[in-house]
Amino acid sequence: MRVKPSTLDRLLKPLHRWIWADAGRRARKLLTFAETEADGGRDLARAAELPRDPLLRRLYLLHAQDEQRHADLFARRGRELVALHGAAPLVEANWLAPGERGLDDVRVEQHKDEALLAFLHLSESAAAGRFAAYAEVLEADARTREVFSRILKDEVFHMTYTRRQLARLAPRDQGVRLWQARAGRMFSAYLRIAVALASLFGQALLTLQYFVLLPPFAALARRSTRRETQGFVPARAPTSMTSQY
Ligand SMILES: [Fe+2]
Ligand SMILES: [Fe+2]
Repeated sequence: MRVKPSTLDRLLKPLHRWIWADAGRRARKLLTFAETEADGGRDLARAAELPRDPLLRRLYLLHAQDEQRHADLFARRGRELVALHGAAPLVEANWLAPGERGLDDVRVEQHKDEALLAFLHLSESAAAGRFAAYAEVLEADARTREVFSRILKDEVFHMTYTRRQLARLAPRDQGVRLWQARAGRMFSAYLRIAVALASLFGQALLTLQYFVLLPPFAALARRSTRRETQGFVPARAPTSMTSQY
């Protein structure tokens, strides 16, 4: 099966080309991808312990191994680029820190097999489309392009097996499961955008407060400074030590 980038990714191709053109940024992005893949692998290894269906357990385990291998491939190429282009201070060991974003941070324990398979199918399809788009714009870096092409083959397998297993386990309501998963992903995307907008709005409001509320206090402080007597001022007469009056 040949995966094509989504329409949005095709429209954003010039932007993708610009993002991947810089070798330092390329290195940092690959190291971040490695972190995400490793996190996804850990989630899937946990998922492999849950189902009673032996085929599904085996497939999840294979999937987890694939994601770990992707993490290694991305990390190796990222480190090569760091060594070649000297971007090391910007990425120092951060890629090894355990992240929380793998598979959109799905809580595998809380999902039934059908829901998890629908979710995985959608997220693997989206990842495959994006990786195809990145591979297309990496004409200048054949080795990184090769990494993406290798990983893309596995992503296609992940995309296909999750869809087939969903059809096997839920032949009647597979469509509903996919729509539910799609709605969940859309809600997560909405939340992410809402949080980003709220943070932007908060920053703008604080900046506005700084420039609108602070100047009157600064003017008052300056005025009272002008009223202060300059130079030495005689000390006040000492108060009585025997009476409070
Ligand atoms: Fe992967
Ligand atoms: Fe995958």
